[in-house]
Amino acid sequence: AASDPDLVARARAAKEALGDRVFVLGHHYQRDEVIAFADVTGDSFKLARDAAARPEAEYIVFCGVHFMAESADILTGPGQQVVLPDLAAGCSMADMARLSQVEDAWDALAAAGIADSVVPVTYMNSSADIKAFCGRNGGAVCTSSNAKVALEWAFAQEPATPGEHTRVLFLPDQHLGRNTAVLDLGMSLDDCVVWDPHRPDGGLTAEQLRDARIILWKGHCSVHGRFSADVVDELRATVPDVNILVHPECRHEVVTRADLVGSTEFIIRTIEAAPAGSTWAIGTELNLVQRLAAAHPDKNIVFLDRTVCYCSTMNRIDLPHLVWALENLVAGNVVNVIEVDPDTERWAKVALQRMLDLPA
Ligand code: 13P
Ligand code: SF4
Repeated sequence: AASDPDLVARARAAKEALGDRVFVLGHHYQRDEVIAFADVTGDSFKLARDAAARPEAEYIVFCGVHFMAESADILTGPGQQVVLPDLAAGCSMADMARLSQVEDAWDALAAAGIADSVVPVTYMNSSADIKAFCGRNGGAVCTSSNAKVALEWAFAQEPATPGEHTRVLFLPDQHLGRNTAVLDLGMSLDDCVVWDPHRPDGGLTAEQLRDARIILWKGHCSVHGRFSADVVDELRATVPDVNILVHPECRHEVVTRADLVGSTEFIIRTIEAAPAGSTWAIGTELNLVQRLAAAHPDKNIVFLDRTVCYCSTMNRIDLPHLVWALENLVAGNVVNVIEVDPDTERWAKVALQRMLDLPA
């Protein structure tokens, strides 16, 4: 639907009034009406770097979800404030790993005698205190663009106890962890165990923990978790020459049936490079798929699901919320500031920096 012209004019005027004092970041899953006012768009990795590269902007308006705004706050300077236009824009996956639950899991690893051979790696899609936990315990952050190199780095760490093998605790997305371990690092499904924070001892015995190479947190993305192997099989059977392109947050049986798998930036680059007339079924958030279809009318682009599936929390950031945030900044009211406490920030930065230092 076309955006309200009055709101468009107000957003434009507020941005003009703020000039270089404001920098607006837009994640690829944002609505078109919001992307229209983004100074840069990107996946969560690119946006974290883009935020860090704008020291002159007093205000970073983050059109994305809470954990992304926290990461931007951690990576930007003390004179900069990060604004999330709607504080209810969270992420159900990030909410699946709370610090107290992760500390309980760590205690169980210690009880099994292996905590000092486990490197915790958290997906960007996690709260700042989980990133800080990883920083404090020798671990790192990763995104869907660099999960492979992050896991290679983690497995290359020497275990503190000689003779032990290095294990990874992967938080909070079991699918990204499993898909990366199996498809990129050549591990077997038996090398992976799943820690369920809602069961006593994670539902695992000390022996299972000791035998595992990667301990996957039982979290998932409610959007990408909906894509199914059945729909992939149906499309293969009915759509000639279809190419299946999916995000690694999809379930393992979907990813193993796909032709290509990668982050949102990878998905965009793949479609841009695809020949005219080619046919693609894409398994990622619907705002992005619809934008790609509109931008590439010479290619046949369909959504990999029978139903509509937007990320409802990403969609909370809409033009009215963006206008409200920008107009308040013009009036000198800095609303919806996301500010991570200094100790959490210090350790989360250690984990984020380990990621930024990984080979490209
Ligand atoms: P990226 O491809 O940006 O890592 O993210 C996927 C996602 O679900 C963001 O919330
Ligand atoms: Fe979280 Fe999934 Fe939405 Fe990304 S798409 S913000 S992982 S719920």
